[in-house]
Amino acid sequence: MSLEFPLTARTCPFDPPGRYAELRATAPVSRVALPSGQTAWLLTRHADVRAVLDDPRFSSDMSRPGFPHLYPKPVEPVLKGTFIRMDGEEHAHYRRMLTGLFSVKRVEAMRPFVEQVVEDCLDRMAAHGAPADIVRELAYPVPSRVICGLLGVPHEDHATFGGYLNTLFDGSSDQEQFAAAKAGLSTYLDALISEKEKAPEDDLISVLVEQQYKPGRLSRQELVTISWMLLAAGHETTAHMIGLGALTLMENPDQLAEATRGPAAMADAVEELLRHQTVMQLGMTRVAVADAEIGGTLIRAGEGVIALLSLANRDPDVFPDPDTVDVTRGARHHVAFGFGPHQCLGHSLARLELAVVFDRLFRRFPGIRPTVPVADIRFRYDAIVYGVAELPVEW
Ligand code: HEM
Repeated sequence: MSLEFPLTARTCPFDPPGRYAELRATAPVSRVALPSGQTAWLLTRHADVRAVLDDPRFSSDMSRPGFPHLYPKPVEPVLKGTFIRMDGEEHAHYRRMLTGLFSVKRVEAMRPFVEQVVEDCLDRMAAHGAPADIVRELAYPVPSRVICGLLGVPHEDHATFGGYLNTLFDGSSDQEQFAAAKAGLSTYLDALISEKEKAPEDDLISVLVEQQYKPGRLSRQELVTISWMLLAAGHETTAHMIGLGALTLMENPDQLAEATRGPAAMADAVEELLRHQTVMQLGMTRVAVADAEIGGTLIRAGEGVIALLSLANRDPDVFPDPDTVDVTRGARHHVAFGFGPHQCLGHSLARLELAVVFDRLFRRFPGIRPTVPVADIRFRYDAIVYGVAELPVEW
């Protein structure tokens, strides 16, 4: 009988379920049973995960037969029709449009803005006084304000678009709620695009309006879809990396001391935290469109695959002593942002946000610590994006 996927019971909240590590040692390409009733191949080795994610014989298109679904009920996949679920040239067409807008240089130019956002959140946290919840005061607001600033979406409208995004991504909405949220978000963004058409600024949506939509290279519907996808992407992932990363550093004072030695040390620490706490805990789903041999196993066309990033990032063949947090190890070749053509578009922005948050947080509140032992912290064991639900701290 196949092992059931996903496993969510962890023995240590900082480590992926132990059974996966056993699998990687004994059967790194193994059959698993999914809640949808399908079976799929689970990949747990760094080399196999990278091979699949960079291989055109594996498709990201959820509408293909055999695509592995991780939910029991067949709701319309939220990312359907967005370029994250496209393949080949169709996907590359959109990536070419956007890659330059997320380049290291452009993201670096956002540093003063990101620093200001972080300082504002820390001011509010200081004014609130201890105990404060890092998730609420810092982890959620920073990525949300940053992506709004980048796209040119007024953060004051958060009550409107945040509600729609929650409905789309929380996994418990029914088809009707889902359709209403998608329509509401589209109407909101369509109106915003009309404003940018009349009075463009230097934000990303305005740039897309001027460079792509007005010359007819992008339709209105495509622009709306790209806008909501970018607005949604990176909210939860970055937020939970902030929460988990901060907790990991507070629990490992020697690593915190090393990380806060300077900008280069912090950049290394961010890589190690991304590796060790791979928040996309359910992995990347793909379906084979042609027969392919991966890690010595023949995967046939039409079979689903799950590339488990969290286990690839603990592969001892690539990261010696992988369960230990070592901010000096140089972990850049981790796969926390995926790999291949779909590798995270916002990785430079996420890296910048994490480095600024950890630097400013521990500089401003040097004695900061959780108010409760780790055993009493609520972790998001069942969520697509792993993390801490709340992180009460004092200083
Ligand atoms: C794709 C992780 C932050 C935008 C991805 C993928 C991963 C990932 C694993 C690959 C999906 C796949 O292969 O199917 C993360 C993590 C983040 C983060 C761990 C934070 C720590 C961000 C931010 C943005 C962003 C801040 C900003 C807009 C995107 C987009 C894609 C993507 C647009 C789709 C790329 C494509 O399909 O070509 N991300 N992400 N992400 N991410 Fe991120």
